[in-house]
Amino acid sequence: MTKISGTALQEHLETLLEVTAFPPPAAFAQSALWKDPDVYAEADADPQAWWDRHARDLHWHHPWDTVLDWSDKPFAKWFVGGKINAAYNCVDRHVEAGRGDRVAFYWRGEEGEEQTLTYSWLHAQVQRAANALVDLGVRPGDVVGIYLPMIPEVVVAMLACARIGAPHNVVFGGFSVESVRERLEESHAKVLITADGARRRGKVHQIKQEIDTVTSSLPDLEHVLVVRRTSVNCPMAAGRDVDWDDALAAANPLAPIQAFDAEHPLFILYTSGSTAKPKGILHTTGGYLVGVAHTTKYIFDLRPETDVFWCSADVGWVTGHSYIVYGPLLNGATSVMYEGAPDYPHRAIWWETVERYKVSIFYTAPTAVRACMSWGAEEPNKHDLSSLRLLGSVGEPINPKAWLWYREVIGGGNCPIIDTWWQTETGQIMIAPVPGITAAKPGCAMRPLPGIKADVVDPDGNPITEGQGLLVLRRPWPGMLRTLYNEPERFVRTYWSRFGPDTYLVGDAARIDADGDIWILGRTDDVINVSGHRLSTAEVESAIVSHPKVAESAVVAQHDEITGQAIVAFVTPVEGTETEGMDHELRDHVAEMIGKLARPKRIIWTYDLPKTRSGKIMRRLLRDIAAGRDLGDVTTLRDPAVMDQLRKLIAERGDSED
Ligand code: PRX
Repeated sequence: MTKISGTALQEHLETLLEVTAFPPPAAFAQSALWKDPDVYAEADADPQAWWDRHARDLHWHHPWDTVLDWSDKPFAKWFVGGKINAAYNCVDRHVEAGRGDRVAFYWRGEEGEEQTLTYSWLHAQVQRAANALVDLGVRPGDVVGIYLPMIPEVVVAMLACARIGAPHNVVFGGFSVESVRERLEESHAKVLITADGARRRGKVHQIKQEIDTVTSSLPDLEHVLVVRRTSVNCPMAAGRDVDWDDALAAANPLAPIQAFDAEHPLFILYTSGSTAKPKGILHTTGGYLVGVAHTTKYIFDLRPETDVFWCSADVGWVTGHSYIVYGPLLNGATSVMYEGAPDYPHRAIWWETVERYKVSIFYTAPTAVRACMSWGAEEPNKHDLSSLRLLGSVGEPINPKAWLWYREVIGGGNCPIIDTWWQTETGQIMIAPVPGITAAKPGCAMRPLPGIKADVVDPDGNPITEGQGLLVLRRPWPGMLRTLYNEPERFVRTYWSRFGPDTYLVGDAARIDADGDIWILGRTDDVINVSGHRLSTAEVESAIVSHPKVAESAVVAQHDEITGQAIVAFVTPVEGTETEGMDHELRDHVAEMIGKLARPKRIIWTYDLPKTRSGKIMRRLLRDIAAGRDLGDVTTLRDPAVMDQLRKLIAERGDSED
């Protein structure tokens, strides 16, 4: 497609909206790794044989006896008896095969700094960092917290943990230190790896200084390793805090490989659930590695020799774990890693970066696509994006318009668009078009991958052949979570109780169309998806009510053009509180308790919340109010006057919106 923008582009996209499905571009399909639709039938005929075969792409120090032990369901064991080391597979074996000079990452900093990290560099760094952790007393099974910006050290830190069998617990850099504290406490982390400061949009945030305000209440935390990212001075507690560079310099440069059981924990990653307490998703080694290595290769059609892969997520989310760190490195790929925001230092930085490193596979979230769309096609049009050959999307439903814009403006009409559905819990991509096979419908995640079985079911668990229902997964898969850290009962209750221990309840609603293709509609639990980031309403409510001037709060989601959903908070102040001007204070408070990403977009003050006679908050009504919908029948309310007050409030005063 020639580069167009403005009205011509709008008209072009309007005509494409008529197209129901886009087959893979012919040139792509011809040379794709998978082009034979029989892969689906082959995997379905014997899923265990399928995974057995794909697991052989990795290096195992000892082979497995059994592919899957499902006898204690829903607690799965994959590749039973197998022994493996994640870091060896990500780094050492590529170096040993003579590919040490291959670039693992082109790293780009916010200020335009660049670093080219080869596999040999990673090999040396990971060994030293692994030994530095051992020197600090870390042993297999000990949890190491990681709270770092998007800098090369975050990858080194994760792989160093994996090398010595210490599960990492990465906390997204956008979370507040209070969230870090909670996650470190819950996981009993022994060491925390953090930085002196982080750069965010040209400003330096003093991370270490902030972290120090919460670490004293963590009895299990023995050491803090501090990476110097900025030149800010940070306090270093004698005996506890250790400089990363000093520790690596002092460490033995050689760290022999230890093979761990396939079911040895690889990492914990906290995610939001339907209560205020985050869930510690536990992933183990062998199965997870098989799941992510396999999907990175076949779903992105990855050719490590020639492709440059860029997943724009943050390593602090599962997308970063699976498709910045483990998946690409297991395949010996070359990736791009960018420290900054998509619009910093300017709105064409992503496209400048694609052109600079000749990125061929790009993976991002619909929110980012919609933001870029709102900035106009002129920015990407300034750059040569012809190196791109596949585009991926993840984290939230992508609306057809954004899908088409992505395809036409970024992909030049030549790239398959791979809308990938999965979760922190699934570890690996589960539903997506196969790029060389599947004709993709704009906005549709399409079909479960070969070997994966998903259904859309009615409230009784019966499969629906066409229509809307609950998304479930029917068959264990290698990258599946094994449990919730220290909460096995919650694991069973949350995912495996509603329809029995053979059916994993996803928590998403979906529609299955007449062709059997799956459209993800959104969460069915009290989870809000803002910009592809999962937040629990209960967690946000609990942060809001911890403010001394707040009596009660209910949080709901509202549709947002850019971020997909936005947080709306209904708040009842403590009696006698003047709420004028309180919005900022409350938003800052939420940022402090959880992180800026959880700040409500709208705050609606009310003297009471609509409740049933038994005292249950009627969220449906709140959602309707937030969306400005007709409220219908409110006779079951304890105090219908509340609704009048809310309606009046919104009409008279408006409510605040950032
Ligand atoms: O609601 C689905 C949505 O994101 C949830 C998982 O969030 P998280 O664990 O943070 O992982 C996000 C990245 C894998 C899902 O339950 N979601 C994820 N991918 C899609 C999606 N919704 C629609 N389409 C997708 N492709």
